[in-house]
Amino acid sequence: MPLLFTPLTLPAPQGPGLALRNRAIIAPMCQYVIDAEDGVPTDWHLQHLGAFAAGGFGLVTVEATGVEARGRISARDVGLYDDAQQRAHQRIVSFLRSQGVAAAVQLGHAGGKASTYPALPGQPSGTVPVAVGGWTAVGAVDGPVLPGLDAAKGLSTPEIAEVVAAFAAAARRADAAGYDAIQLHAAHGYLMHQFLSPLTNTRTDGYGGDEYGRTRFTREVAAAVREVWPAHKPLGIRVSATDWVDGGWDVHATARLLRRLADEHGVTWVDVSSGGLGGGAEIPVGPGYQVPLAAELTRQLAGRPVVVSAVGLVVDAVQAETILATGQAHAVSIGRAALRDPHWAASAAARLGVPRTEIPHAPQLWRAGW
Ligand code: FNR
Repeated sequence: MPLLFTPLTLPAPQGPGLALRNRAIIAPMCQYVIDAEDGVPTDWHLQHLGAFAAGGFGLVTVEATGVEARGRISARDVGLYDDAQQRAHQRIVSFLRSQGVAAAVQLGHAGGKASTYPALPGQPSGTVPVAVGGWTAVGAVDGPVLPGLDAAKGLSTPEIAEVVAAFAAAARRADAAGYDAIQLHAAHGYLMHQFLSPLTNTRTDGYGGDEYGRTRFTREVAAAVREVWPAHKPLGIRVSATDWVDGGWDVHATARLLRRLADEHGVTWVDVSSGGLGGGAEIPVGPGYQVPLAAELTRQLAGRPVVVSAVGLVVDAVQAETILATGQAHAVSIGRAALRDPHWAASAAARLGVPRTEIPHAPQLWRAGW
C-alpha cells in the first residue's frame, strides 16, 4: 500500500486519537460565498466540501472561519459565533462524516487583515471602508499590517482576553457541530501571525518584546481552546513557518513554538505553510516549495506525538507519495489541485495502484479512473 493511502492517526491527549482513512487532506479554502454576509455557510459550502468527501480524501479542513464578526477576512467569510452558523456547520459535518471522511474547521481571526474585499473576480483589493460596509480592524498594534491596507487598532490587554475567549467559544461550537478536529489559523499574516512576527509585533508589553512575549497570544489561544475542546479530539495549527524576510519570523522560531504547544498545550497536528506578512517578501514559489519547511519541522518535532502535513503546490500523486516516503511529512494538504479535481485523492489511489477494494466509503470512485 502506498504511504498516501496508509491510514494515519492524529493523536489526542486522551484516547486513540482521530483515525484518518488516508493521508490526503483538503487545505482550508475560503469560498467568499455567503448569501447574507452573516457568516452562515450555505449549500455552496455543502457541495464544495462534500465533493472532496466523495472524492476520497482522508480529512477535509473547512475554510478560515471567524471566531467573531470583526475577525472575518471579508464580509463573505463564514463564522462560528452564533447558532445559525453552528447549525449550518453541523449539516456539512454530518454529510462529511456520512462519507467516511473526518472534518476539521480552521478557526481564525484576520486581525489587521480583516474587512478586506473578497478575493473574487472584479473586486478591488485592500480594506473595505467603514462607509461602505467595512469595519475597523483590530491587530497586534496600531497601524496597517501591510502596505495598501487601512490602519488597524491595536488590541488592549483586556481586548486580547476577549479574543482568546472568542476562540474558546467557537471551539465549543465546533464540538457541538460535530467537528473531529480544529486547526488554529496562525499563518498568512492573520492575527496570530501578526503577534508572532517581529515584522508586525512591536508591542512592549507581555504580548510583545522577545519571542516568548510574541508567542504569548498564540499560546493563550491554544490553552483556552484545549481546555474546552474534548480531550479525545485533536487540536492542530496552521503556521507560516517563515516570513521569507530577513529579521522576520522563521522556521527555528516556529519549531520552538510548536515544541511548546505540543508539550504544554496538547497540539498534535501542524500544517506547514508560509508567508503573508512583509511587503517585500520574495517567495520562491514552485512545486512543493514549502515542503523543506515541513521537513525541517518534522525533524525538529521527531519523538513528539505531532503529525506534520506539507502544503503548497503539491499537485501530483507521485510527488505526494515521494514527500511521505522520504519522511519529509506525515501527510499532504491539497488546495488548488483539488479545486480542479475534487476526486484528486481517488485519482491518486488509482494512479498509485491501490486496489479499489482497499478504498472504503467511496462508492463513486470509478469516476477517478479505475
Ligand atoms: C486558500 N488558502 C487558504 N489558507 C488558509 O489557511 N485558510 C483559508 O481559508 C484559505 N483560503 C484559500 C482560498 C483559495 C481559493 C485558495 C486557492 C487558497 C491557501 C490554501 O489553503 C493553500 O495553502 C494554498 O493554496 C497552497 O496550496 P495549493 O493550492 O498549492 O495546494
